[in-house]
Amino acid sequence: MALLTDAAWMARALALAERGRGRTAPNPLVGAVVVSPGGVVVGQGAHLVAGGPHAEVVALDAAGEHGRGATLYCTLEPCCHVGRTGPCVERIAAAGVRRVVTAMQDPNPHVDGRGHAWLRAHGVAVDTGVGGLEAARQNAPFLTWIRANRPWTVLKTVTSADGFVGRRGERTKLSSPVADRWMQRQRAWIDALVVGAQTLIVDDPVLTARGPVRARPLTRVIVDWRGRTPPGARVWSTLSAGPVIMVVLDSTVQADPARFEAMRARGIHLDLQSSRDLGVVARGLASAGVQSVLLEGGPSLQQAWLDAGLVDHLQWLMASAELGEGVPMAAGVRRWCAGMPDESRQPLGDDWLIEGPWESVEGRQP
Ligand SMILES: NC(=O)c1ccc[n+]([C@@H]2O[C@H](COP(=O)([O-])OP(=O)(O)OC[C@H]3O[C@@H](n4cnc5c(N)ncnc54)[C@H](OP(=O)(O)O)[C@@H]3O)[C@@H](O)[C@H]2O)c1
Repeated sequence: MALLTDAAWMARALALAERGRGRTAPNPLVGAVVVSPGGVVVGQGAHLVAGGPHAEVVALDAAGEHGRGATLYCTLEPCCHVGRTGPCVERIAAAGVRRVVTAMQDPNPHVDGRGHAWLRAHGVAVDTGVGGLEAARQNAPFLTWIRANRPWTVLKTVTSADGFVGRRGERTKLSSPVADRWMQRQRAWIDALVVGAQTLIVDDPVLTARGPVRARPLTRVIVDWRGRTPPGARVWSTLSAGPVIMVVLDSTVQADPARFEAMRARGIHLDLQSSRDLGVVARGLASAGVQSVLLEGGPSLQQAWLDAGLVDHLQWLMASAELGEGVPMAAGVRRWCAGMPDESRQPLGDDWLIEGPWESVEGRQP
């Protein structure tokens, strides 16, 4: 029987890494497989939760003595610094692993090639770049956060077949139950939801993840420079689901301090800004540990987020019904879709999902 290729083993490690999605932040997703010289899996594992053991350690623990002379496949360069757990490279060398294959270098400044170098210096052969593109896609939130100092951002919009996000001034149901369940699954793993003031006023959403299991609190961000959202908005009563942050201008708060003090007393976080600069808002979220954002709307805020160069990925759900008139979708999303290949369009219940990277260039790394 022919031995599997490095790429095939790495595909297995990448699939294992997915088990941690939504639970590992601020750490990346990582999967690892230990393969004996005869081509048998003797250990495997994933990093499942921040603070938990690293994937390499889980896989090597499972392999035990069978790790001697084996090859370790790992979706990210092993760490060489002492964080919440000990350095993985020492554990790998101590286990007698002969060769390490990684998908990519870890851009974390504490690692950044030093893990690979340490292993080579200690007699372990290292090959890197196997499955690198897939690994970069898988860890896009972590990589964007660490390289660009902002959250990886998915813009999601639901429109009628003729491109309206809803009737003016009226909450409008457009998506089918199948699409609704799919959207709730997106909310299950993302770090934060972002919406604009007008969406809160018109739709009064609760902005919680409903249906799928969510393992940790969900941060909700309301961009409301002028403090227009009503005190009775439903989202203000959902703090048990996670923090709610209102992004508001300093001048707005100074004009009515008692009102905002009352909001603070209710547990609502105020993110005071001196100008309407969304780049500053995004960097602030990154500093608070938010690695991924689902920008749910409405179209004005989405267009502003696009114009600021802060969007990485788009999801356009197009319902079958037409509205004839209403609030038009963000023009930038419509233009983006025109350049998307047919295979980016798939049925979702009665609706269509058009999904892909903002810069629809294959191979782009965040
Ligand atoms: N179908 C869907 O997927 C969906 C999802 C959400 C909402 N909606 C619908 O969309 C409508 C609301 O959308 P909308 O576009 O009117 O409002 P919106 O996007 O909800 O709110 C606009 C927010 O963006 C801010 N903003 C606008 N331009 C900006 C810029 N250049 N820089 C920084 N901030 C900027 C506004 O600030 P100011 O407050 O200072 O103006 C406001 O806070 C509602 O009808 C709702 O039902 C549909």
